[in-house]
Amino acid sequence: MATQNTITLFLFFSSIISYSFTVVTSTQTCPNAACRRGDPVIRFPFRLENLQTKSCGYPGYTLSCDKEKQTVINLPGSGSFTLQGIDYGTQEIWINDPNACLPSRLLSLNLTGSLFTGVYYQDFTFFNCSSDYTKYQLNPIACLSGSSNTVFATSASPVIKFLSSRCTSIAKIAVPMELPFFEQVLSSDLSSDLRLAWTVPGCGKCESRGGRCGFKNNSSLEIACTNAPRHGKSSISFIFFCLSLLRAQTLIRMGLITVREPH
Ligand SMILES: *[C@@H]1O[C@H](CO)[C@@H](O)[C@H](O)[C@H]1NC(C)=O
Ligand SMILES: *[C@@H]1O[C@H](CO)[C@@H](O)[C@H](O)[C@H]1NC(C)=O
Ligand SMILES: *[C@@H]1O[C@H](CO)[C@@H](O)[C@H](O)[C@H]1NC(C)=O
Ligand SMILES: *[C@@H]1O[C@H](CO)[C@@H](O)[C@H](O)[C@H]1NC(C)=O
Repeated sequence: MATQNTITLFLFFSSIISYSFTVVTSTQTCPNAACRRGDPVIRFPFRLENLQTKSCGYPGYTLSCDKEKQTVINLPGSGSFTLQGIDYGTQEIWINDPNACLPSRLLSLNLTGSLFTGVYYQDFTFFNCSSDYTKYQLNPIACLSGSSNTVFATSASPVIKFLSSRCTSIAKIAVPMELPFFEQVLSSDLSSDLRLAWTVPGCGKCESRGGRCGFKNNSSLEIACTNAPRHGKSSISFIFFCLSLLRAQTLIRMGLITVREPH
């Protein structure tokens, strides 16, 4: 029975996936690419070096795949980061440190010469303390701390005041946070992705409409929006979607998918 459920669930999800593919697939001269399954789908203004030709990406938006097949973005002046996600509609990316010590990268982050800026900035002061301050219930930055020192990052003025007289202040950094913040953070290990946005080229509106952005021609940097959804295509995908719902409904009625009641 368990295997049967698994199989029917698989069928259910595969029909949903086939629906999404009928929407997404719009290949032309520059097919989408990715470093590995599940990684961000790369298309204009980005391009994957070695997988997509130069004319598939805007200057400065070249990405690569590392040995672990992670997507890598090189930010001039700040170095390489793993690219965790892209929102083509809002023109935002999420990045992190391939060596799992984002705070150390923040200490040398300088976005001035890059094409990206933070979306939500919050100022954090970094402190290097000689003794273990975990007894104050502060969250240390493990990857910057050693056996004889503990590093903290805080955005809360009382904590800044408290640590200033006890520790060495290392830096004050405007951190491009992943989420908007509403209050001061007592302490953070700052391991969440950094959220950055780009403005040029402006393909967000085109992408949000379901269109595809690219160069007008190969003698200028002017962009054009093509492949905006046509009625024929979207109604076909809609039919696919309805069919998959119908299929799921039938399976549920047949008792092949059990819908658990909440207790
Ligand atoms: C950041 O980079 C810009 C140029 O890319 C440079 O002029 C500036 O001095 C740098 N800022 C810091 C704090 O290093
Ligand atoms: C913190 O202080 C210790 C001891 O003085 C030093 O070895 C270490 O490099 C410092 N860490 C940082 C991140 O500045
Ligand atoms: C390329 O596009 C630009 C801007 O639309 C236009 O001025 C130029 O004539 C075009 N070049 C060719 C070769 O089509
Ligand atoms: C545009 O680029 C394509 C592919 O790189 C090339 O075949 C074509 O000749 C180019 N056209 C112009 C007008 O440069």
